[in-house]
Amino acid sequence: MAVLMDGKALARKITDELRNELVSSGLRPGLAVILVGENPASAVYVRMKEKACEKLGFFSSGFRLPHDVSEDELAKLILRLNNDPDIHGILLQLPMPGHLDEKRMLSLILPEKDVDGFHPVNVGRMMVGDECFVPCTPRGIMKLLDEYDVQLKGKRAVVLGRSNIVGKPTAMLLLQRHATVTICHSRTKNLADVCREADVVIAAVGRPYFVDKSFVKPGAVVVDVGVNRVDDVEKAIELFGESSLKATKVAEKGYALCGDVNFEAVEKVASLLTPVPGGVGPLTIAMLMQNTFDSAKRFARES
Ligand code: GUN
Repeated sequence: MAVLMDGKALARKITDELRNELVSSGLRPGLAVILVGENPASAVYVRMKEKACEKLGFFSSGFRLPHDVSEDELAKLILRLNNDPDIHGILLQLPMPGHLDEKRMLSLILPEKDVDGFHPVNVGRMMVGDECFVPCTPRGIMKLLDEYDVQLKGKRAVVLGRSNIVGKPTAMLLLQRHATVTICHSRTKNLADVCREADVVIAAVGRPYFVDKSFVKPGAVVVDVGVNRVDDVEKAIELFGESSLKATKVAEKGYALCGDVNFEAVEKVASLLTPVPGGVGPLTIAMLMQNTFDSAKRFARES
């Protein structure tokens, strides 16, 4: 049976260390979080990010913009925040409504305040191995692998999913650590066979239970980045077993959360596996706090 990688515990440890450093620094990092529209999942994530700021004593500034806000209005807000000395990080929650050009809006954020690491300047810096803001979820994945002493040098890693938020940057970080990296996606042929070659599998496809036993080499390390909502809970339990779903969420809300990995099947073959929730998710938030603190330190140094 796989050992579970406890992201919640690691996130707590990182946050505690950060809090200690914060106290001695005397700084007050500031994070501005912008949410456009009413995507319910995004609203939950944004609230979690703001709560994390409040718990640490960061300055948190939340902006809720209507679904039909114009690009000009959003651009004006971003430019104002770029010039606000109390703000060290600006986060534009994705996805945004279709009429807004995500790439254009992200590129308006000052790279020095781009704590998500989505600005092309930071993406480029990461590509060439320069100092930059590393996207929060990929940075959290690497922390988790390090915490559990997963060796990457010379190992085969397969990243399932090619998003700019998770898949591509995670592949780049694994490459920097000397893994041999394959990125798979919806058009990849013989996906399970490719995946089964991997010592480390990162699943970030956004499809519930997608990775089953046939994808996993015995002893492989499996990181599940998916957070999928499943409404037909009865059917899912029948097909995939109770432990694939988070029972408490089912009881409270009438739906279940599950990852991209069929937990019950894969825990029998993997050596290490992340749960959902409680795996990568808490680390994303911890890394956002870390990036914001790093930014505040840099601004203090350079002012
Ligand atoms: N949407 C899903 N994940 C993220 C993230 O890490 N940052 C932002 N800004 N939007 C997201």
